Amino acid sequence: MDKNEEVIQLLKTYNQEHIINLLDRLDEKEKEAVIEQVNKIDFHQIMELYQNTKKEIEIKENKIESIKYLDKEKLTKNEIDEFNRLGEEIIVSGMYAVVTMAGGQGTRLGHTGPKGTFKLDVYGKGKYLFEILAENLKEANKKYNTIIPWYIMTSKENNDETQEFLEKNNYFGYDKDSVMLFEQGELPLLDTEGKMLIGKDLKIKEASDGNGGVFSSLRLTGMLADMKERGIKWVFIGGVDNAILKMADVTLLGMAINEHVQIASKSVVKANPQERVGVFCKMNGHPKVIEYSELPEKMAEEVDNNGELKYGESHIMCNLFTIDAIEKISKEPLIYHSAFKKNSYIDEDGKEVIPNEPNSYKFEAFIFDSFELFDDIAILRGKREDDFAPVKNKEGVDSPKTAKELYEKFWERQK
Ligand code: UD1
Repeated sequence: MDKNEEVIQLLKTYNQEHIINLLDRLDEKEKEAVIEQVNKIDFHQIMELYQNTKKEIEIKENKIESIKYLDKEKLTKNEIDEFNRLGEEIIVSGMYAVVTMAGGQGTRLGHTGPKGTFKLDVYGKGKYLFEILAENLKEANKKYNTIIPWYIMTSKENNDETQEFLEKNNYFGYDKDSVMLFEQGELPLLDTEGKMLIGKDLKIKEASDGNGGVFSSLRLTGMLADMKERGIKWVFIGGVDNAILKMADVTLLGMAINEHVQIASKSVVKANPQERVGVFCKMNGHPKVIEYSELPEKMAEEVDNNGELKYGESHIMCNLFTIDAIEKISKEPLIYHSAFKKNSYIDEDGKEVIPNEPNSYKFEAFIFDSFELFDDIAILRGKREDDFAPVKNKEGVDSPKTAKELYEKFWERQK
């Protein structure tokens, strides 16, 4: 069987005849591009993901408990000093790196372009989200007399634009040789019949595989090897959209070292049962975060004997891993969650269809699903006003307006 025949056979086996029809309409170069894509896609995995969309998410069967945490407010001065000493030691000796996940689309914010290029209207002139992160790291570098390697995860879609933006802004004064961009993976979008969407570029339409893709991408792009070569022992992985994110928090790091764990995270108390944050718990004895989109209402509202939310420790995307933990996770398949979304596509007549209603499934791995691979996690409960100023929505809660207020108040208090 020649190579083209094999591809056609594969597409037939997996019910993707519309792609065979597409191939017939393409010129040689376009055809080659699609065949290259087909050869990279794991059809078996994709069909399994499609079958899973028909199953209900079942949390009930599992044993779920609330999780233990340390409240920073309640630590003694000695405890804090000791944590800080342990954390500082690692950073000063160049064993600490930071990853910013900037591959998301930022659809809810309505900003066209990579989310890190969004300018938050703070202190008159405003600051880009990437600028705020760079400033946070530069401050840590000054304090600990080091240069923390900064890895930025982009998507295929926004990599070039991110690179150009950072170049144009001279990496906001960050040491250019210590900023490494790497791309995350993609998965095809499927319609309700399990057929892959065709994009405007006449290729199979793919989208970023979620922030859980960070581990395998770090390995596949050589970034993990680069970290090892630099002697990195601890890696902080954070998002791009928290205006007061502390990427070099020595208390968090020291707590993790002190507790002899491989993973650690910072939480804040959930503002209300409906807040759109993931919450920590233990499931079948392992640490876990249940995402807001999957948390049953009853669980969200459950309170303990003190009247506090039983699942009230929010995941604020402030996670620490040992380099060994990253290596381990990068080799394990994480589960994928599906989201039913609106996605435009090219139909059988070659016309673009822009749907008004959700029409297709997007598959995403979540960073915190990696926690289940470990027996324990150390959680440090921080304070919302010190740790969490998310920029998610165009207006209302977690919007540029609320983040600006939190950011300015935070810096006012530091004076
Ligand atoms: C995320 C968390 C949620 C947490 C909240 C706190 C997940 C799945 N959810 O929700 O538990 O309470 O933040 O703010 O992590 N990203 C990529 N590539 C992707 C998708 C996302 O790099 O394919 C990055 C985004 O750029 C962003 C971060 O991951 O930095 C958060 O992603 P987003 O999808 O916006 O998650 P939220 O719904 O805000």
